[in-house]
This record gives sequence, structure tokens and C-alpha cells, in this order.
Amino acid sequence: MDERKKGTPSMGVIFCALFLTATFQVCFSAAKQLQSNMTRETQSPNSFGSSLLFPVQGDVYPNGFFYATIYIGNPPKPYYLDIDTGSDLTWVQCAAAPNAKLLKSPNKPYKPNNNALLCKDPLCPFVDQPTCKAPNDQCDYEVEYADSGSSLGVLVRDSFALKLTNGSAYKPSMAFGCGYDQEFSGPFPPPYVDGVLGLAKGKSNVVSQLRSFGLVRNVIGHCFSGQGKGYLSFGDDLLPSGLVWAPMLPNSLNHYVLGPVDLLFGQKASGAKGLSVIFDSGSTYTYLNPQAYQATLSLIKTALLGKQLSAVKDGNLPVCWKGAKPFQSIDAVKNYFSPLVLSFKNAKNVGFVIPPEAYLLVTSKGNVCLGILNGADAKLGNSNIIGDISFQDKLVVYDNERQMIGWTPSNCNKLPKP
Ligand SMILES: *[C@@H]1O[C@H](CO)[C@@H](O)[C@H](O)[C@H]1NC(C)=O
Ligand SMILES: *[C@@H]1O[C@H](CO)[C@@H](O)[C@H](O)[C@H]1NC(C)=O
Repeated sequence: MDERKKGTPSMGVIFCALFLTATFQVCFSAAKQLQSNMTRETQSPNSFGSSLLFPVQGDVYPNGFFYATIYIGNPPKPYYLDIDTGSDLTWVQCAAAPNAKLLKSPNKPYKPNNNALLCKDPLCPFVDQPTCKAPNDQCDYEVEYADSGSSLGVLVRDSFALKLTNGSAYKPSMAFGCGYDQEFSGPFPPPYVDGVLGLAKGKSNVVSQLRSFGLVRNVIGHCFSGQGKGYLSFGDDLLPSGLVWAPMLPNSLNHYVLGPVDLLFGQKASGAKGLSVIFDSGSTYTYLNPQAYQATLSLIKTALLGKQLSAVKDGNLPVCWKGAKPFQSIDAVKNYFSPLVLSFKNAKNVGFVIPPEAYLLVTSKGNVCLGILNGADAKLGNSNIIGDISFQDKLVVYDNERQMIGWTPSNCNKLPKP
């Protein structure tokens, strides 16, 4: 899910983008691009000795999102929050007023208790504030999502019930959004959750707040299993060795951007070169810019010539094929397809490999559909977004301490042992 910042400063908006699933509009200024520099490193020096680990629920299909359960308040109550590395504000649906406009959600909405942040609070400047005029005004926020989705509310502070992997329990008081006016629309239904766990780079991000309390390092990891479920971690002492790392590119919207990469299909160059890609767990699918999308689609179609697959309208996604008989699972069909590789230009033989099961899915009708979409159809302009489908069966780590992103193939059904 991506956040559109309003009043982006005069650096020049390069593009504005709409997301489909958890759907946000993004505008983003191109910042000076760093030379990409892949390095292989083992885990970074660990100074905190503890992490937070959350089991994750959800899947790419049919649900379209992954969530963690976070306990907030006193007594702590559960909230299912959509894990979103494409926006940085965490918010929960909130019964702030009798006429609150809430979406259908699995748990009871949060009840605020005169705990609103004021505009003078140091965290308030990190959200879009539609109403701050005086220091003692209430700190309202507004996030806009693509396809006209949005959340509007007020920042509040309350305790989060957390248990570190070293056994210590904490109840740090953290700022988050109490959202009393949510709207979602778009081609896919809104995620059935209580709110969003915003994990992009901004200061309002809860991991950045936990870091300021000295509880965990600002390192976020997600591991989504292809069979659904998985885990989320904050902190860096549970990371395995053998991760491949690439530096984050700076950008004005706090997105996790990597590049430049060339896109390969199998061993072949697709013609899509020098792309920058956004890692966004709030997006169900992967989006490519129109040229890269067309190039990829035509390579896939060429590779399918003479195979027993024919194009079919499925209703779930725009590009689907059927076989002689309905497919029961992706295993029955993945051998017809080659892996895609995001090949980092400045490093030979290292890349982000997207095997067929991380860009295809089998629908309830037994067809196989392409989970890579044309960014133009989603009004994403020229951006390339790597979404949940392509993160499956990998541990992906956003190390905000070192400004690096790492990954490794992983069995996400198995939680790491503290
Ligand atoms: C890339 O890596 C090389 C060797 O590890 C290093 O000398 C160089 O400074 C790095 N460049 C950037 C932009 O990080
Ligand atoms: C667990 O880690 C926290 C944060 O690093 C630390 O303050 C606490 O003392 C640790 N607890 C134990 C039992 O070691």
C-alpha cells in the first residue's frame, strides 16, 4: 500500500501512482539515485540482543493481504493490521464519534480516551495534518490511498503490549492513528483488517518509535509463506546469515526503493533495463511499468507456444491460461514458466529471483493467472512495485540502520528460534 503525500515540496513530482489492492495513490519525487551496489554480508553487528516476532496470517489468494495481530490499550485488545512497507503511519479503526465512518472489520474498533496528540508533539510533523494551526490543536492526520481509498483521524498515544524474544514484556506508549473516517473502493475488495501497520521509512513508523526507546533496532523482516501465513520481525538478532543485500535509494516519500535492475526472464534479457523497484508489502501483486510489462508478457507468451495452455478469461486477474484439466495447484503448471530475475546492474550473478510460484497463482476455477500487472492499468505511471506475490517464500529484511535491503529464500512456515 502506498501513501500519497499531499503538498509534495517543489522538488518536482515525477509520478503519481494508484495501487489496486490495498491501494494507495503515490506521488514521488525522483531523488538523486545512488549507484546500486550489491554486497553479500552476514548479519549486522547486533547491539540490542532482542527482537519482536509476530506470527502472520493471510495469503495472496484469495485474501490478498497479510496481517499481524497487535495488542493495544489497557487492557490490551487485539487488532489485525495489514503489514504495509509502502506507507509509514499505523492506524486502527476507531470509534471516536457516533457518526464515525468505519469499514467492516474483524475486531471491535479502538476507543480513544482523551489521548489525542497535539500539534506541538514532536511526532505530529511526520504525518499529513489537515488542521494544525496552533500548537495546542489536536494532531489530525489524513492518508490517501489509490483508487480513492483514505483514512482520516487523529493521532493518539497508547500502550502496545509487546513481548521481546528475550522474554521481557514491555508496554511502550506509542503514537498511532485513530481512524474514524475510512473509505475504500477499487477493483479488489478492501482487506478485512482493523487497520494498517505502516512500516515504510518515516519517523511515525512504530519500529522507529521502538528504536527511540532502545527496545529493538530499526530492522524489519517479513517472511510470507506460499501456503499462507508466515512471520514478521522487528530487530536484527534473529536474522540468518547468507542474506544478499542491496542499498536503499534515497527518495522523498520514504518508500523502500532499490535499483537500478535489469529484468531477466530465464537467462534472457527482457529489454527492461535500469529499473528502480519499490518493495511494498501493502500491494498484493507486482506491477511493472508498461514497457517492462509488455516485454515480460511477450516473453512468457513466446515460451508457452506449443504448450498445452490456452488463454482464458477468468475474472480474477487480466491474464490467465487454462490447461486440458483444471489445475489443482501451482506445482502442476509451474514447469511451463521460467523464473524472473531482478538483476542488479553492478553485481554479477546476484539478483532477486522470482520463481513462477511467486508471479503466478491458480484460481478457484483452476486457471493459472499472471500476478504481474501493468502499472499503467493501475495508474501507477512508470513505477515498478514488488508486492506480496513475489515476496513469498523469502525472508525480506529492511535494515533502516544501514539503509540496506536484504533477502534470502526461506521456509516461512517455520518461525525463527530466539
Ligand atoms: C560499492 O562497493 C565497493 C566495494 O565493496 C565500494 O568500494 C564502493 O564504495 C561502494 N559504492 C557505493 C556507492 O556504496
Ligand atoms: C531484553 O532486551 C531488552 C532490550 O534490549 C533489555 O532492556 C532487557 O533487559 C532484556 N531482558 C533480559 C531478560 O535480558
